[in-house]
Amino acid sequence: MTDPQTVLTERVQQALAHAFGAEHADADPLIRPSQFADFQANVAMSLAKRLRRAPREVAEAIRAELSDFPGTVEVSGPGFLNITLDDGWIAVEAQRMLADPRLGVGTVTPTQTVVIDYSAPNAAKEMHVGHLRTTIVGDALARLHEHVGNTVVRQNHLGDWGTPFGMLIEHLLDIGEEAAVGQLEAGMGTEFYQAARVKFDGDEAFKQRARVRVTTLQSGDPETLRLWHVFMDATVRYFNKVYGRLGVTLTDADIAGESMYNPMLERTCADLEASGTAELSEGALCVFPPGFTGSDDKPLPLIIRKSDGGYGYATTDMAAIRYRVHDLKAARILYVVGADQALHFRMVFAAARQAGWLPDEVSAEHVQIGMMLGKDGRRFKTRSGESIKLTDLLDEAVERATAAIADRGYDAATQAEIARAVGMGAVKYADLSVSHDSEYVFDFDRMLGFTGNTGPYMQYATARIRSIFRKAGMEPAEAQGAITPGEPAERALSLHLLGFGELVSQVTAQSEPHRLCAFLFETASLFSTFYEQCPVLRSDVAPEVRASRLALCALTLRTLETGLDLLGVPVPERM
Ligand code: ARG
Repeated sequence: MTDPQTVLTERVQQALAHAFGAEHADADPLIRPSQFADFQANVAMSLAKRLRRAPREVAEAIRAELSDFPGTVEVSGPGFLNITLDDGWIAVEAQRMLADPRLGVGTVTPTQTVVIDYSAPNAAKEMHVGHLRTTIVGDALARLHEHVGNTVVRQNHLGDWGTPFGMLIEHLLDIGEEAAVGQLEAGMGTEFYQAARVKFDGDEAFKQRARVRVTTLQSGDPETLRLWHVFMDATVRYFNKVYGRLGVTLTDADIAGESMYNPMLERTCADLEASGTAELSEGALCVFPPGFTGSDDKPLPLIIRKSDGGYGYATTDMAAIRYRVHDLKAARILYVVGADQALHFRMVFAAARQAGWLPDEVSAEHVQIGMMLGKDGRRFKTRSGESIKLTDLLDEAVERATAAIADRGYDAATQAEIARAVGMGAVKYADLSVSHDSEYVFDFDRMLGFTGNTGPYMQYATARIRSIFRKAGMEPAEAQGAITPGEPAERALSLHLLGFGELVSQVTAQSEPHRLCAFLFETASLFSTFYEQCPVLRSDVAPEVRASRLALCALTLRTLETGLDLLGVPVPERM
């Protein structure tokens, strides 16, 4: 473990145990970055209160136990411990990190099976910008969990079933299969849906046909199922186009849409009723999980079978959670879904616990995705009010990226390749860099900016380091050190990089990709300062200093590239 903060935590805990007894071995030493040293430990103050001793005295006692510490420890103020690590220690750890193919990122023991429910667009409508964010955040979490050694099961819970499919299939028959497939593949699901809806509302005969079609679909009529497949396959081909452009790792094998649970719903209800978890209330079968009440103080129902016998969103989610625990053997289930569904998931989790389908040792977590807003602060829409087509949005990102790099003199093919990476990287990084549960303003100008915490800035930072190696006439992998941070800017960058492994573990465990973005942004900023203040290739730089600085460049580059890859942000070679 090279993370300085973790190393310090362990060392101060040992010191606490030695000085004050083993019962203090688990106390949090409160290690924080400091203005006056690398870190400070604030534990003496709180501990002094408990021990009824003077804080400075407690701090001195801790310091005395840290005599063999690779750095200096000073007591300051009312009892802070100011800790500065030796340059030698930083050098050794940085060298170790450089030699480590995993850059200090540990693997978890024991490993877990993590089911990640993400993306989940609805087939009856267009995949919209909100699904873009659940897709991008979910995919980053999947990559992170795989990197730390967990077994990831991706579940794309498509909205691919329900009463709208009656009218959708009838509309498909009206316009012909070929035309329908063409529209759906092109991402015109919304238009398709709206056209069906207009007929449904205005044409009695169509409405009747649609109703009958719902019944034949539900009864499993082979020809109706074939038509449903025609519709779904074309829709999924469009989703795959979007995933492909974004570099999202979802495949057809990860599709586990609502329709998949259809055969399980009857038993889901029967079992919940038999176990007494669900009860009939005004004709509907409901679970009343404890602790949920409506505005009138009455218990809130999770309706799993409507009074007309129909199943709904909650029924499917009850079947899904049971399947994920029982069949997929999940230790952890992450639901990367809009924050507006928070109540639904709290109730589903509570009902599943009540039914014994979600044992205590399995955690189910709603990774809430904040709403996407337009620049006007309202739900993201076009001026005419309808939601924006996702492929158009991605096209625009690439167009704007093309314009931004147009003057750099690349040939057409290279330029197209860079523009694609910059456009997609900008959109993805923007989604990831703010905490997933906060609302997020979709703003092309900001996300495509080349300064600040943006995708293009991060990509540019890596391209700049690559260009240093091109000038040096060597591959980054050939820069092996030794790393000897002498200047303050070298030292600050090295010390920061050492925190990468621990940060990745935390970000993964806590589902917080935005903190990885913040870390990488800080890395790029510290690198900029280093590069301004510490010449690397200038002829008057001594060979061993040059070697050290090149190694630090290589370590920075690998850290940035690994971090961006874990986020799913593409990195062009040049920019
Ligand atoms: N299709 C849903 C929507 O667009 C999201 C599904 C999320 N997953 C789940 N298990 N309910 O809102």
